[in-house]
Amino acid sequence: MAIRLGDVAPDFTADTTDGTITFHEWLGDSWGILFSHPKDFTPVCTTELGAFSARKADFDKRNTKLIAVSVDSVASHHDWAGDIEETQGAALAFPIIGDENRQVADLYDMIHPNANDTLTVRSVFIVGPDKKVKLTLTYPASTGRNVDEILRVLDSLQLTADYKVATPVNWTDGNDVIIVPAVSDDEAKERFPKGFTTIKPYLRTTPQPNK
Ligand code: BEZ
Repeated sequence: MAIRLGDVAPDFTADTTDGTITFHEWLGDSWGILFSHPKDFTPVCTTELGAFSARKADFDKRNTKLIAVSVDSVASHHDWAGDIEETQGAALAFPIIGDENRQVADLYDMIHPNANDTLTVRSVFIVGPDKKVKLTLTYPASTGRNVDEILRVLDSLQLTADYKVATPVNWTDGNDVIIVPAVSDDEAKERFPKGFTTIKPYLRTTPQPNK
């Protein structure tokens, strides 16, 4: 069955380019992003793994660990890492799971047979420090992901975990946010000392509270 928001992210032990990892233990108190790519030595995947590696410091700042997976072997990932560094200008900066037996791919329903019988699609699972799934994304093999968008949703997830707010369309870190409807105006006055604007009774905005 597909993994849904709020589910505990399935735990597993797997071989990776950084040795054997047990997922929950490896995550510790961090946020985590588990993301699959279809195949090593393919063009779009090479650009993605290079771009995520180049932005490692941005994920570190957000207390977030990255881990990639495909159904290739760890040996193949190690060989491919050389090409990633050579062509993308960034050395691989996080582990890649060797999932030849599809343990992780099956646990996370990353193989979508109507797209491809054997290869993982481009799945993204963002997991909170409580090990629960906070966000899922699925892209086809033909469409590379956007690192800025992953960082943007991570900012929203981390902000909304701590404050009774939601982030509006196209929000990016630093923009005004929405006060969730369950918060009364009286409570909002206490929770959001910078004040708030009422556009409609259900649509109230306030400066980002953690800035
Ligand atoms: C790619 O990464 O370029 C790719 C991988 C599998 C199928 C199509 C494209």
